Amino acid sequence: MTNENRPIVIAGNWKMNKTIQEAVLFIKELIPLVKDSSAKVLLAVPFTALTACLNAAYKTNVIIGAQNVSDEEDGAYTGEISAKLLKDAGAQFVIIGHSERRRLYNETDWIVNKKLKRALHANLIPIICVGESLNERQSGRTELIVSQQLLQSLAGITTQQLQYIIIAYEPVWAIGTNVPATPQIAEQALSFCRNVIANKWGKDVANKIVIQYGGSVNEENAKIMLEQPNIDGLLIGTASLKCGTFSKIVISQNAKVRI
Ligand code: PGA
Repeated sequence: MTNENRPIVIAGNWKMNKTIQEAVLFIKELIPLVKDSSAKVLLAVPFTALTACLNAAYKTNVIIGAQNVSDEEDGAYTGEISAKLLKDAGAQFVIIGHSERRRLYNETDWIVNKKLKRALHANLIPIICVGESLNERQSGRTELIVSQQLLQSLAGITTQQLQYIIIAYEPVWAIGTNVPATPQIAEQALSFCRNVIANKWGKDVANKIVIQYGGSVNEENAKIMLEQPNIDGLLIGTASLKCGTFSKIVISQNAKVRI
């Protein structure tokens, strides 16, 4: 299923990196390099750098967001940040259910689903991450796991709401390992995700929803990934930490040909 109207969305996920000063320097350097990009350029920054990054990116095409959000609305949850607080700080999007959160902080699909609803309620664009582990792939359970994660994470979401959600397919074995999925494997998985969405919510919205690939994306493989018909963008960890590398990846999307 292809659609030349889907935007290209390139998102950097800085994880637990960058002081305020480093973050601001990066953004100032990035702005002129990506100002003519037709892709949407997103940076998921640490909470501590949100305000400074928003100021640095003010009135540019660089969109600033967060890497996590609480599943609770407000109240006595020491250390948590709610969707309302993120929105208040100016964040425009939030990554939810990244495999590091699922694996290291026991985030289940049920929690991801609660977080997703909080984000939507606060008008934050959620990027919902799904993806199988190496063991799950090797035992032939990729499709089962990915469809379960999608359907459970998106439970109760309407077709209307789905239009504001971005999906990121990130196989766990490819994250931070320097072992990206081949473009064929990535395309196959993204096409599968789109079909799961089409079967549950209909072809129209499945054709509109943005699905990213993530996992060891770098300057060398970004272009070919984006040439795949179902890959609408990239979620980038390591390679988003260096401005030169990240900007080259953003620019490489100009080569995308929609068939
Ligand atoms: P990576 O991380 O690009 O370093 O593999 C991707 C991610 O965690 O989203």
